[in-house]
Amino acid sequence: MTIDLSEIKDKTNLRGISFESIHLDLEIVDKNLSVELPKICGPLAEIISFIMSASGKRIRPALALLVGYLTSLDSESLKSTNSGKASLKPQHFILAELTELIHTASLVHDDLLDQSIQRRGQETIHLKWGTKVAVITGDFLFAQASVKLGEINNTEIVSIYAQVLAELCIGEINQAQSRFDLSKIDLNNYITKSTNKTASLFSAATKSAALLNQLPNHQVEQMFSYGQNLGIAFQIIDDLIDFTSESKELGKPAMGDLMQGIFTAPVIYALQDETVNLQLKELIKTRFADPGSLNEAKALISSSGGFDKTLQLAESYVTKALTELESFPNSAYKENLQQIAQFVLKRHS
Ligand code: FPP
Ligand code: MG
Repeated sequence: MTIDLSEIKDKTNLRGISFESIHLDLEIVDKNLSVELPKICGPLAEIISFIMSASGKRIRPALALLVGYLTSLDSESLKSTNSGKASLKPQHFILAELTELIHTASLVHDDLLDQSIQRRGQETIHLKWGTKVAVITGDFLFAQASVKLGEINNTEIVSIYAQVLAELCIGEINQAQSRFDLSKIDLNNYITKSTNKTASLFSAATKSAALLNQLPNHQVEQMFSYGQNLGIAFQIIDDLIDFTSESKELGKPAMGDLMQGIFTAPVIYALQDETVNLQLKELIKTRFADPGSLNEAKALISSSGGFDKTLQLAESYVTKALTELESFPNSAYKENLQQIAQFVLKRHS
């Protein structure tokens, strides 16, 4: 069944997602991360506070909370579409927080590996405090996430998140090893890498939130699939806006991927087009030494339809994600999960 994305109401408030249904819950998560956490970070307090106060989208905690609510209703209450009876367990908050901590930790390490100078509109940790501090800060955030994982007291969820950490590393290594390597350009590899480095954390959050409510297996898997497809779409759009948004909007330098030889969907599609293939390959071989060459490459990708095809690819994953929600009866939480999918497609930063 095809879903008309334009039918879903746009109530997202971009700085993050400020949905009415989880607004207060997200504030608790935010306070725990940006105010309470630094209090137990000793010498790292200032750095952790600096990182956690930056304006992240908080999309992953929002997913954990919304799926937690959606799946807390038994089938009878779901049939009556009475979303007022939905509730969260304390573990859902812990899940939301630890998911954001893993994401943030991976970004601190990613920025160091990528030698990025800016994240979320502010200086990166390695630039401000040095390499050693950035490594230990990322490790510390991972450690805090592990502490919280233990607090959930559910071995299946521990196992899911342990697997996520492995997949993040595999995704990152694959990317590092393929830089400027034209022989490794392939849409399937790209989707696998995106699943590992981004979608794995999304699907861990949505699956675990459902598991905490002891849902039947097939519904847990539907929530997993919603998160995974959404996560893949999120990464595809991330890669698209790396080309199409301005640095100021992104909070980091634009066209960073291409500059570093990371070939994402727009480049993969453009290289499939014989009219631009040779010219684009020539530019790639120069490793963009000439400052104007990045914009030249962008123009070639655009003329080949690479950006349009990339958006269509993301739309196809969003449609798959939305399909997984269909069998869940309507509620404010379901609507918000649909809106997140819409937000993923429309975001510019
Ligand atoms: C951002 O990608 C990076 C990630 C989504 C994952 C990074 C993962 C690691 C560094 C592995 C570390 C993990 C462990 C468990 C030690 P991007 O570079 O495409 O996005 P960006 O443009 O926002 O930087
Ligand atoms: Mg990066």
